[in-house]
Amino acid sequence: MLTHSFKVFFLPPIISPIFATHVLTNKMFKDKVVAITGGSDGIGKALIDEFIKHGAKIATCGRNHDKLYHLQVQYPKNLLHTIVADVSNENDCKRFIDTTLQTFGGIDILINNAGISMRALVKDVDLNTIKKVMDTNFWGTVYCTKFALDSVMERKGTIVGVSSIAGYRGLPGRSGYSASKHAINGWLEALRTELLDKGVNVMWVCPGFTTSNIRNVALNNDAKPQGESPMDESKMMTAEECARHIVKAIEKRKRTLVLTFTGKQTVLMNKFFPAWADKLVRNYFFKNGELIK
Ligand SMILES: NC(=O)c1ccc[n+]([C@@H]2O[C@H](COP(=O)([O-])OP(=O)(O)OC[C@H]3O[C@@H](n4cnc5c(N)ncnc54)[C@H](OP(=O)(O)O)[C@@H]3O)[C@@H](O)[C@H]2O)c1
Repeated sequence: MLTHSFKVFFLPPIISPIFATHVLTNKMFKDKVVAITGGSDGIGKALIDEFIKHGAKIATCGRNHDKLYHLQVQYPKNLLHTIVADVSNENDCKRFIDTTLQTFGGIDILINNAGISMRALVKDVDLNTIKKVMDTNFWGTVYCTKFALDSVMERKGTIVGVSSIAGYRGLPGRSGYSASKHAINGWLEALRTELLDKGVNVMWVCPGFTTSNIRNVALNNDAKPQGESPMDESKMMTAEECARHIVKAIEKRKRTLVLTFTGKQTVLMNKFFPAWADKLVRNYFFKNGELIK
C-alpha cells in the first residue's frame, strides 16, 4: 500500500503542489495569532478572510467603528478581536497591541497594513497632507512593531510591512506616500538585520495597483479625501489575490514580495535604468503637463 507522502508525490503535476501547499498552510497558521492593522477594508480585510480560512485568530483595528462592527458580526469573538484605533496615534497603537495580547495571549504575526495615500503635487500641497501620510504609514508601522516586538520575538514569528512599488520608485503626486513607503522598507531592513539571529522573519511586501478604497480616500492638496479614483479600478489585481500572495510569502518566510507584472518591471527598470524610468513614469502619470492619474 502507498504511504500518504508517496501518494501526494504521484498526484497529477497540476494538483499535487496545490494540495501539498494547502495542507502545509492549514497546519502552519492553525491557532496562530495574527495582528493586522487596517483590516476593515481592501487588502487588510482580504488578509483576515484568508487567515481565518486557515484557522488563525485575528486582531485588527481601524478608525471607523461601523466598518469594524460589520466585520465583527461576520466572525465569532474567539476568532476575531477588533478595536477602534488610529495607527498614527502612539497610544492607540499601544491599546491595539495590549488588548490583542490580553485577548489571545501573544502575537505570532504582525502585519502593518493600515495606510493612506495622497494625490497632490509638491508645489501645491499643504504640508499637513504629507505629515498625515507619514504619521499613518511610517509611524503607524513603527509604533505597532515596537509594542508587539517582545511577543513576536518570544514566538519566533513574523513582522510584515505592507509597502508599495512606491517604496522602490518615487511616484509623482505621491511624494509623501513614496517617502513613507521608502522609510518603511529601510526601517524594516534595519530591523530584519538586527533580528537575524533571533528567529524572527521581517519582510516588506509591495503590491502593485490593487482594487481597493485607497485612491478614493487619498488626500488632496488640503489633506482632505479626494473622493474618487483617477484610475480604472476594475483592471487591477483584486485584494483577495493580493492577500493570497502575501499569506504564501509569510508561509515561506520570504524577505520581500513585489507584486504584479508592471510592479516588478518598474522596480527592475528603476534599478538598472533609472533615468529611463523617470521618463516612463512621468509619461504614465502626466498628459500635456497635467497630472492625470
Ligand atoms: N491598493 C493598492 O493599489 C495598494 C498598492 C500598494 C500598496 N498598498 C498598501 O496596502 C495597504 C492597504 O491599502 P488598501 O489598498 O487595502 O486601502 P483601503 O482599502 O483604503 O484600506 C485601508 C485600511 O486601513 C485602515 N486605515 C487607514 N488609516 C488608518 C489609520 N490611521 N489607523 C488605522 N487604520 C487605518 C482603513 O480603515 P479606516 O478608514 O476605518 O481607518 C482600512 O481598513 C496600505 O498600506 C497601502 O499603502 C495598496
